[in-house]
Amino acid sequence: MSQDKPKAYVNTIGCQMNVYDSQILAGLLQNAGYEQTHDPDLADLVLCNTCAIRHKAQEKAYSFLGRFAGTRIKGKRPLTIMAGCVAQKEKEKAFVRLPHLDLVLGTQAFGRFETHIKALVAGETRIVDTEPSENIFEGFPKHAMAEKIQVSRFVTIMQGCENFCTYCVVPYVRGKEKSRNPSAIVEEIEGLAKSGVREITLLGQNVNSYAGNNGQVCFPDLLHLVSRVEGIERIRFATSHPKDLSADLIEAIKDVDKVCNHLHLPVQSGSNDILKRMNRKYDRETYFTRISALRQACPDIALSTDIIVGFPGETRFDFEQTMNLLETVEFDAVFAFAYSARSFTPAAKFSNQLDEQIKRDRLNELLDFQEKITEEKNKAFVGKKVTVLVEGDSPKPRDGFVKKNKNTRQMFGRSDANKIVHFASDQAGIGDLVTLEIINAYPHSLWGEVCESD
Ligand code: 5AD
Ligand code: SF4
Repeated sequence: MSQDKPKAYVNTIGCQMNVYDSQILAGLLQNAGYEQTHDPDLADLVLCNTCAIRHKAQEKAYSFLGRFAGTRIKGKRPLTIMAGCVAQKEKEKAFVRLPHLDLVLGTQAFGRFETHIKALVAGETRIVDTEPSENIFEGFPKHAMAEKIQVSRFVTIMQGCENFCTYCVVPYVRGKEKSRNPSAIVEEIEGLAKSGVREITLLGQNVNSYAGNNGQVCFPDLLHLVSRVEGIERIRFATSHPKDLSADLIEAIKDVDKVCNHLHLPVQSGSNDILKRMNRKYDRETYFTRISALRQACPDIALSTDIIVGFPGETRFDFEQTMNLLETVEFDAVFAFAYSARSFTPAAKFSNQLDEQIKRDRLNELLDFQEKITEEKNKAFVGKKVTVLVEGDSPKPRDGFVKKNKNTRQMFGRSDANKIVHFASDQAGIGDLVTLEIINAYPHSLWGEVCESD
């Protein structure tokens, strides 16, 4: 690290799309002459890429940025930037709680970020840019401050959402759906593959609506294009909306070898009444039909979902309908959230908001219930062979393992079905595909042994 370059600290809150956006912002900061620091207290510039989807995430952003009000480095405080969804939502209002903020950078203002940095360095303060932009920002910096080589990377293929689920703030902060050009996506993935990336997760709020080249390239077409990129071994994608899980997409999951055997298909609720009031545009019966079609084509496909508990007016019966749906589908993983009222959204104005305690209790009940299902699903892997893409050293080696194998490295990888598998090996390297026999199953991971032939 050079002594004289100013230092930037980038903090990301929220979803995978924000992880990708932060890489862009970090790369643009590098273009502007900054180098990355991992210590916010040493930073000359602090940026928080924010998430507005739930109240808690928004509060996290405010409290993080609040820490820099009084910080002083070399006699001055760092430039402080709020970027992303909360910035887009709050606009000038952000200054009420964070009077020291220097830049409020909305979700469609990335193309103007470098100009704003120059203005800040020249002494300007309190810049707000939440203007919409016609096109998706296409300047992914090639040298984006990717500090260490990663085997798995996210690539955003589209932005925005026009579904207007009644609980969701995304359409108000991320704007209209816009698809990136397929050639730009492929070019970016080729570059990533050359730098050692082996797995790509294609991201969009609703990837099934992808319409590249003015509607000429649909999402299954894009899967075929990306699968031709040399060096990429695996392709994942998120998120799919159940209302438009098409036969073509099911066919692509089945036929394109590199596309992983896993689908994240958020159902949100198992109650038809709630689904209707959420404006999800499908009912539980349609969801079951889509899952059956999928399982018929790909019998071992792993499934995950998102659930919101405690939506306004959710009765005990509605909640039990959701539990019943979980019992029927048997998801491999469930991401469940307590409903959080968001400004601009219709559901925030519904009169029958539930008590916070009821939401919390239902959330815990659902998570306990699902944990047993997930563990059972994991146990079904014991004795089977799975191939993992090695991602790195296991963060916390298991006690029993450490005692028995003091000198062997413990690593982890992800299976095609998105299961984390830990294993011991001195030979395996990050980015390798290794076949393992599953020996043990836990609620959140598996333990495997390297198969002899490997
Ligand atoms: N409250 C709680 N969870 C929400 N999600 C979206 N909006 C809200 C909200 N207002 C959840 C949905 C979505 C996931 C990304 O976040 O389950 O699929
Ligand atoms: Fe939000 Fe619904 Fe769009 Fe997903 S599909 S981002 S839940 S409005």
